[in-house]
Amino acid sequence: MSSNFSVTPWEVKGKVDYDKLIVQFGTQKITPELKERIKKITGDLHVMLRRDVFFSHRDLDLVLKDYEEGKGFFLYTGRAPSLGMHIGHLVPFIFTRWLQEKFKVNLYIEITDDEKFMRNPELTLEQTRQFAYDNILDIIAVGFDPDRTFIFQDTEYIRNMYPLATKIAKKLTFSEVRATFGLENSSNIGIIFYPALQIAPTMFEKKRCLIPAGIDQDPYWRLQRDIAESLGYYKAAQIHSKFLPPLTGPEGKMSSSIPESAIYLTDDPKTVERKIMKYAFSGGQPTIELHRKYGGNPEIDVSFQWLYMFFEEDDNKIKKIEEDYRSGKMLTGELKQILIDKLNKFLEEHRAKREEAKELVNTFKYEGKLAKEMWNKIHE
Ligand code: TYM
Repeated sequence: MSSNFSVTPWEVKGKVDYDKLIVQFGTQKITPELKERIKKITGDLHVMLRRDVFFSHRDLDLVLKDYEEGKGFFLYTGRAPSLGMHIGHLVPFIFTRWLQEKFKVNLYIEITDDEKFMRNPELTLEQTRQFAYDNILDIIAVGFDPDRTFIFQDTEYIRNMYPLATKIAKKLTFSEVRATFGLENSSNIGIIFYPALQIAPTMFEKKRCLIPAGIDQDPYWRLQRDIAESLGYYKAAQIHSKFLPPLTGPEGKMSSSIPESAIYLTDDPKTVERKIMKYAFSGGQPTIELHRKYGGNPEIDVSFQWLYMFFEEDDNKIKKIEEDYRSGKMLTGELKQILIDKLNKFLEEHRAKREEAKELVNTFKYEGKLAKEMWNKIHE
C-alpha cells in the first residue's frame, strides 16, 4: 500500500495513484465492456467517461441491470457549502446532469450546511446557510430537470429525514465511525452523528441508489453498504471521479482555502488569465529552445489535464494539442491561452445561467414535482 498519497473526505495529499486507490478502497475499475454497455443505452458516452475521469464504481453493473429490467434506480449526490465553489466542485454535478438526462431518473442533492458548520470551528451556522443558498445557485445553473430533482438542505429537511437517520445511527457504532473518519474523543458529537445524515438519502426510495461523486466520499458509502440490507434497502452503488488537480501542480486536490490553487466560478476573465499564467503548473521546458527540442509533458501539465478532463470535449482537438505539446511544437504559453479562452467562455455562460437560477430556487427546494412529493413524505 502506498504511503505517498492519502485520500479522505477532508483532504487529498500527494499525487494520487488511482489504480492503487481502487485496490485500497476495494472498488471496481470501469472497464471498456461496462462503458460499451452504458453506450448501448445512452447512445453516446460523456467525455468524463470516455477519458476515465469517472474511473471506478461499485455495483454500476447492477444499476444497469435494474434499469434494463425496468426496476429503475435513482441518483444522489451532494455538497458541503462553502464560500464560493471552484471548478472542481462542478465535476460530479455536470456528470450527474448527463446521467439524469440519459436515464430520466430522480435526483436528490443534499446540501450539508450542518456538516460544514460542525467541521469548521470558525464558521457560524448563519454563514453556512448563506453559503448553501449561494452554492445552490451554482448547482441549479448546471441544468437539472426541475420535475425530477430535489435539492434539500439538512437543517431544513431534517424533520422528514430524522426517523430514517435514527435507524441508521442505531446501526453504526462510535468505534466504526471513529475508525472510518479518524474521529477523536475531542470531536464534537454532531460530527459523530453526521454520517447517518449523509447515508439517509441513499434510502429515499426502495430502488437502487447510484451516487456520482469524487472518490473522497467513499468512506460514507462503505458504512452504508454494511448496514443497508439489514434495514431493508439496497447497498448504494457508486460511480467515482478523479480530482481535477489544483493549479499549483498534480498533487492533492483544489482547495477552497488556497485561492491560487483554484479557479472559482466567480473569477472574472482577468483573474482567470492572471491565475493560469502565474500559477498553472507547467510540464514545459524552462526555455523555448529546450521546449522545441525536448517538448512538454502533458501528464504533469495542469493546463493540459484541465483541458483533457473537462474543457476540451473534442477528441480530435485534444489529441492534436497533446501531440503538438509533446513534440515541442506548442509552447506552454499557447497551451495556457487555450485553457484561458475555454475557461472564460465556460464561466461566462455559467454566470448567465446562475442569474436565471435565482428564479428556480423555490422550484428545486420546495415547489417542483419531486420537491413537493418529498416534503409530503416522512422517511420512516
Ligand atoms: P464537498 O462539498 O467537499 O464536495 C462536493 C463534491 O465535489 C467533489 N470534489 C471534486 N471533484 C473533482 N475534483 C475536485 N477537485 C473536487 N473537489 C471536490 C467531491 O468529491 C464531492 O462529490 N460530505 C460531502 C457533501 C455530501 C455529498 C453527498 C457528496 C453530502 N452527501 C453525496 C457526494 C455525494 C462534501 O463535503 O462534499
